[in-house]
Amino acid sequence: MSIYNSEYHFDTLKIKAGYDPKEHNNAVSVPIYETASYEIGTAERYDRLAAAEESGNLYSRVSNPTIKVLEDRIAALDHAEAAVAVGSGVAAITFTLLALAEYGGRILTTYQLYGGVVHHMNYLLPRFGVQFDKVENGSSVEAFEKAITKDTKAIYVESVTNPMATVTDIEALAELAHRHNIPLVVDNTLPTPYLLNPIDHGADIVVYSATKGISGHGNAIGGLVVDSGKFNWNNGKFPQFTDENIAIKGRNDNGRSYLEVFGKSAFAGKIRTDYLTNFGAALSPFNAYLILLGIETISERVEKQVKNAREIAKFLESRPEVEWVSYPGSSYYKYEVLAKKYCPNGVGQLYSFGLKGTEENIYKFVNAVKVFSYQLNLGDARSLVANVSRTSHGELTEEELKRADIPANAIRISIGIEDVRDLKNDLARALDIAFHGAAQEVA
Ligand SMILES: Cc1ncc(COP(=O)(O)O)c(C=O)c1O
Repeated sequence: MSIYNSEYHFDTLKIKAGYDPKEHNNAVSVPIYETASYEIGTAERYDRLAAAEESGNLYSRVSNPTIKVLEDRIAALDHAEAAVAVGSGVAAITFTLLALAEYGGRILTTYQLYGGVVHHMNYLLPRFGVQFDKVENGSSVEAFEKAITKDTKAIYVESVTNPMATVTDIEALAELAHRHNIPLVVDNTLPTPYLLNPIDHGADIVVYSATKGISGHGNAIGGLVVDSGKFNWNNGKFPQFTDENIAIKGRNDNGRSYLEVFGKSAFAGKIRTDYLTNFGAALSPFNAYLILLGIETISERVEKQVKNAREIAKFLESRPEVEWVSYPGSSYYKYEVLAKKYCPNGVGQLYSFGLKGTEENIYKFVNAVKVFSYQLNLGDARSLVANVSRTSHGELTEEELKRADIPANAIRISIGIEDVRDLKNDLARALDIAFHGAAQEVA
């Protein structure tokens, strides 16, 4: 149950939602329930739990009290009906796409996606019967409309894309998806719930890598599937929610449907009952605790990251070694209008810039940074860089990089909460070393 309808604001919900100390020995901080299993009590109680007549925990692959606080907190922050926490962002995406395309089907998406899922969509998921159609221009709703077929089961996009920080027109895509009786799935990892709420703009399902800005400390891998509770699964296209399923049988061993048992949270119910139960990829309670700690300071952290990110983007644009910067406010950036509409407080801390010169200059640059680290996370309190075409998007062919509008000289940058003067000095030093062989301090 989300507390969406409560009178509380985001900054209160991020600390309070989903947790009542009275239910946990009055502990002020959310306790870590490190247990695999739970005392059932009586055989009669087991029957009630199994029939979903009573809520409670049986086994931590499926549910756990620490993880439930995280799930309810995210549901509250996202104005959703329910959320399910899983072992990683990739697990959240995989479970969501498999659940939508059960019995086969097509997912419509774009080339502008995190590189790891591109490989997944190109090679692995098609072997399981899930096919993908991609539009070249993720900002063209007409292109999406042309590519929809009768087998399309969902539209899948990133709200703010990795690594170019382009912004997607969620409202237009939601309207299109709903006209075709399919849900819009949005990966909202980059802006985090603090900067953008996709459900308020019409998205049906939201997925997150909680590894990134949500936890923000680079210490836990985790993922979230968030169910708005608004999509009508009973429209004839999704028998997996309306057909009887023995996994959620009733008292008399009668099969029941996900809609019958879970109602508005049928999608979340299916992810938990079919996917967490059978495919695993459960989050650990300790990681749920770390992610909850991160959420407590998400606003303060992301606000400073955005402030630093803007200043660093301006600084990069002023450097002669830098060819382009893909961030709002920079002359290269083409998504200002959408950025203002969907992310009035900033698109986030991750973007890319291009270095003039050769790949040798790029190697020298990433080797020379000291305050920035060279690593593949993002949204971390630590600032970091990565050479995109070799690392985060190394799975993409040259052709796919072009279609994704990612220049070969792209360097991905994620800005942390360090002192921005040190960040600038570090970048200036690394640029000097990469292009002139020596460092000169900037004023
Ligand atoms: C936008 C986006 N979604 C999902 C993922 C995958 O998340 P995880 O590493 O937690 O599996 C990433 C990872 O970089 C990402 O950038």
